[in-house]
Amino acid sequence: MQTCDKLLLNATTIDHVGGVHEKQAIAIDGKVIAWCGSEEELPPEFRKIAQSVEDCQHKLITPALIDCHTHLVYAGNRADEFQKKLKGATYADIARKGGGILSTVQHTRSASEEQLLEQSLPRILALKREGVLTVEIKSGYGLDLENELKMLRVAKKLGKITGIDVITTFLGAHTLPPEFSGKSQAYVDYLCNEVLPQVVEEGLADCIDVFCESIGFSLAETEQLFLKAKGSGLAIKCHAEQLSNLGGSSLAANLGALSCDHLEHLDESGVTAMAKNNTVAVLLPGAYYFLCETRKPPINLLRDAGVGMAIATDCNPGSSPTTSLLLMMSMACHFFLLTVPEVLSAVTYQAARALGVSERKGKIAPGMEADLLRWAVQDPAELCYYFGYPIQHDTMLGGEWITV
Ligand code: NIG
Ligand code: FE
Repeated sequence: MQTCDKLLLNATTIDHVGGVHEKQAIAIDGKVIAWCGSEEELPPEFRKIAQSVEDCQHKLITPALIDCHTHLVYAGNRADEFQKKLKGATYADIARKGGGILSTVQHTRSASEEQLLEQSLPRILALKREGVLTVEIKSGYGLDLENELKMLRVAKKLGKITGIDVITTFLGAHTLPPEFSGKSQAYVDYLCNEVLPQVVEEGLADCIDVFCESIGFSLAETEQLFLKAKGSGLAIKCHAEQLSNLGGSSLAANLGALSCDHLEHLDESGVTAMAKNNTVAVLLPGAYYFLCETRKPPINLLRDAGVGMAIATDCNPGSSPTTSLLLMMSMACHFFLLTVPEVLSAVTYQAARALGVSERKGKIAPGMEADLLRWAVQDPAELCYYFGYPIQHDTMLGGEWITV
């Protein structure tokens, strides 16, 4: 028999492509959406059986936001490098001099598990306050067995503590650690033979990611890692074509990757491979902004080819020290000329696809998890229009209104 805990009426909602619908009803049963649609078509029994009925007064209800690309577990910060950058040093210059990712590796290795948790918690809580209830967190500042496992355990703990659904990604191939300097292949073999099997054994990762780049890992090394991870049941994601075009996107897409991320240097053949394999393009306007990039991802090619576009914070200490997905939404409009519906879809449905969870998250539909936001606005364009402004909203997590 149908039951219903909460019935929300008179809501404005968005669908999976960001289309707006007025006078909508949403019925919630336990942790999931039982029914949604035009109020006129609401089956009458829902009004009778609902334990509570709320008039949403035309307010906008969206799925909770999903941040599908973060490196939010790390220790220390890179404010010193920021000052070098202001004097003209590039991201690649700093990395080649042993700074960059390696400086965060040093801090992260020195931090105890408790310290790492303590330093990372405010970042995930900031996302939660904005309405982000699903977050992907990558490892990649440990770069050895002990510290990669430590990072992934912290990521999982953050999920437990905050109630946020955390998807974890093993990014051991983020950069070459000092002990393997000049021995890239040996490091990749170590990751494949010693680290990855343990990560899988302990159930600590859902996905693998590789920084496929001139200052990261070659195409052949990336392929070796992807094949190994795929064989162990991990989904594939790729930092690809961020600073140059190595062809990581085509490689990843042809192996069935969920997403390729960054993509400023993506070319037409990469776009075609992504379209063919339903791989999501994850755009990271925060890194584009912070690294003062001038080259934009090929938005028109992606759009014309029908490649789904997601947006994420890329929260990390080196290229995107931000915890505001709302700000990224504004930037995606401003820098990349995404439309408002594209942006709304990018942080809900497309972000869910980029994490392989679109069967249960990212849209308002029967059977989906009831993670919803009721915004103090009626026009969805307002979510992209303000920047640096915390738009008020009510948060529903797993069918319950929560205080954040
Ligand atoms: O997504 N490009 C590689 N990785 C991160 C940056 C990590 C860092 O600089 O600490 C990124 O931009
Ligand atoms: Fe990243």
